[in-house]
Amino acid sequence: MMFRIARSRDGDSITHYDLYKVDVKKGMTVLDALFQIQDRMDASLSFRYSCRGAVCGSCSMLINKEPRLACRTQVADVKGNNMKLKPFPAISEGPTGWNPEIEILIEPIPNMPILKDLVVDMAKFYDVLESMKLWSESEDEDKPRVQSPEERKKIERYVNCILCALCYSSCPINAVKEEYVGPAALAKVWRFHEDSRNSDQKRLLETAKQSDGAPLCDLIMNCVKACPKGVAPGGAIRKIKNL
Ligand code: SF4
Ligand code: FES
Repeated sequence: MMFRIARSRDGDSITHYDLYKVDVKKGMTVLDALFQIQDRMDASLSFRYSCRGAVCGSCSMLINKEPRLACRTQVADVKGNNMKLKPFPAISEGPTGWNPEIEILIEPIPNMPILKDLVVDMAKFYDVLESMKLWSESEDEDKPRVQSPEERKKIERYVNCILCALCYSSCPINAVKEEYVGPAALAKVWRFHEDSRNSDQKRLLETAKQSDGAPLCDLIMNCVKACPKGVAPGGAIRKIKNL
């Protein structure tokens, strides 16, 4: 199988695509294919990974124009366009010469600056979580904060977020509005808003209502389709908007 991979000679943009022939074995993931290329053909190819088991959120990339985790995507399953995302240029315009019938196209996730090849700068994505103070605050820090299984169940979906940024990179609003905090941050607002141990729901809602937050979301729902963990950030944003 041929892999067409985006490269960045200058460091901050895609400068060209390199073609590699990968010896595909049964059960091989896209991440395995990248290891083979790096080990046998091109040690300079840069990509990010850690857990190899879909829990660290490091290996996000655009695979045949769909935002996916490389460690969770089997080479044999990369066919066509299954997510049916609302298009915007980075996910709808392929490079010259790419033949989806015989090649797998690998590119860095959109909406973030490229550092090298498939590695993007996620600083802004993480910084927003800190600036919005997306954590649980209690009036009495010394008191144990007990949570029942039922209360935990309410936030289960949102707790599963692995901060992979696939929602952020699939969002047409993030593509054009740099200031938008993005779907993951707003899903986290809802996660802490609904957390029975949290005593400051008002502050969280106020944060989400800022001009760079929920008001910018058009409920396009690309984030729901792209999320590999079923967090469905768009649903959380709809709830925030309803409030
Ligand atoms: S909400 Fe889903 S897609 Fe977005 S960062 Fe969390 S796990 Fe990734
Ligand atoms: S390597 Fe951790 S999510 Fe893919």
